[in-house]
Amino acid sequence: MAEYNEVYGRAKYYDIAFRRDVTREVDFLTELYQRHAGKPLSSMIDIACGPGYHALLFAARGVRTIGLDLRPEMTEFGKELAVQKGVEIEWMAEDMRTFKLDKPVDLALTSYDSLDCLLDQDSIIAHFRAIADNLTPKGLYVFEMTNPRDCSLWEYGEFRYSGKANGVSVEIIWRPENSNVDILNQVTDMEVEMRVNDNGKEHVFKDRASERFALPQEFIALTKLSGTLNFVTFYGDFRFDQPFDNSPGSRRLIGVLQKAS
Ligand SMILES: C[S@@+](CC[C@H](N)C(=O)[O-])C[C@H]1O[C@@H](n2cnc3c(N)ncnc32)[C@H](O)[C@@H]1O
Repeated sequence: MAEYNEVYGRAKYYDIAFRRDVTREVDFLTELYQRHAGKPLSSMIDIACGPGYHALLFAARGVRTIGLDLRPEMTEFGKELAVQKGVEIEWMAEDMRTFKLDKPVDLALTSYDSLDCLLDQDSIIAHFRAIADNLTPKGLYVFEMTNPRDCSLWEYGEFRYSGKANGVSVEIIWRPENSNVDILNQVTDMEVEMRVNDNGKEHVFKDRASERFALPQEFIALTKLSGTLNFVTFYGDFRFDQPFDNSPGSRRLIGVLQKAS
């Protein structure tokens, strides 16, 4: 599993580098659900949520919300943010392939390439089945990945993220460990370095993990194989006017799946 414990276990520092405004994304998802289910969205789960940026905004809008992440440090940190913002969220530290909710939800989301941590097809199918088991009828599953044109097994590039807050500056560098590309299984090893200056104290945390690169047609095939979800469409961004294609504006691969009736 691509757990990156050195990074994901330090939720406070992750948050400084990755916090962002997801209003447009939440607007899009709310309208998407209305269009496909024919009723307003009333509940959602933010899966592999990290600090739960989407969860926090959905909850602030009155949607019953769950934040799920494998790392308890992330869900504990999300809990603190929710208290600060005065919103109610249920937090679960569980695996996206095996979780079980007490009550199904209308919408499930994985954002920011979180699916790349599932390193084989069986894991993706298990995840799709877990999602379907926890969706209401007509419920939607939306996943967000980078357009494979811009980041692939062969051309990953180097990604840098940084931020500053309360005397702490964080820089995170994500790059492939080039010597180990497993072309047969579409998996590559990655190195992550997190450089922190926490009120004058310097730290460097390094980690390694694997990521898997699935292509759009594979996602469609695995959806069919799961037997529990139907493929609906892809978008190239969180916008209805941006198809998934090779145009410059198509920076994301947004997959939309619906619970099979
Ligand atoms: C790239 S971060 C995305 C966080 C968040 N969605 C965001 O938009 O900032 C990926 C997250 O996936 C979580 N994760 C990795 N494997 C997981 C699994 N099997 N089940 C649930 N969460 C997992 C990690 O702990 C990490 O917080």
